[in-house]
Amino acid sequence: MDRKLLETRVLLESDLEAFREIQSEYLDKWTPALLREQFSKFPSLYVGSFLNGALIGIAYGTADSSSATLQGIAVKFSLWRKGIGSALLSFFEQQTNGMGVHKVGLGCGEGFAEQFYVKNGYRPVELKARSADGRVLAVEPIRDYSDGLVKRERLRRELHPSEVIFIMEKRLDP
Ligand SMILES: CC(C)(COP(=O)(O)OP(=O)(O)OC[C@H]1O[C@@H](n2cnc3c(N)ncnc32)[C@H](O)[C@@H]1OP(=O)(O)O)[C@@H](O)C(=O)NCCC(=O)NCCS
Repeated sequence: MDRKLLETRVLLESDLEAFREIQSEYLDKWTPALLREQFSKFPSLYVGSFLNGALIGIAYGTADSSSATLQGIAVKFSLWRKGIGSALLSFFEQQTNGMGVHKVGLGCGEGFAEQFYVKNGYRPVELKARSADGRVLAVEPIRDYSDGLVKRERLRRELHPSEVIFIMEKRLDP
């Protein structure tokens, strides 16, 4: 990969079709109408990485006056582990800071993405256990990632949830 051909920037409306392809492959299946609606509310929080002009990674979210929420981040599989996801996340954080919001929160599905967020300075603050129909079965505060790993096993044994996700946050320097 030639890094000189790599660019990370805010998305334009004309990028949304390519955005939806990546989003539906790795994250959520939104309709074009839902995507346009969300994009129009938070255009500065829809960011992408482009390699030689082609969209290869996305990050997006929402914000209120006190914090932003990262709703999704994904990089095309063939380009994983080259720092692109971290660069996208850092760009998303800069955008958040630019809005005067200095905290980012997220819910992280089970799997290696946990390590990705911890490596990027996110602090696991609680666990949320959910049933298959999406009901929240338990919310458990945690001290850090290792405490969360232990407590997650206990929640799995005791509640047999469909999933236990880490809620993480990062405070940004203004
Ligand atoms: C999560 C994702 C965006 C990471 O993108 P990426 O460009 O590969 O991330 P980076 O190269 O910046 O990784 C930074 C660090 O995160 C950790 N990490 C990333 N992917 C990892 C993996 N598969 N296994 C273990 N650690 C991983 C590593 O510590 C890595 O640093 P290193 O390569 O120096 O060891 C990418 O894997 C992805 O698109 N996954 C599918 C969608 C998804 O799960 N999104 C998160 C939803 S909660």
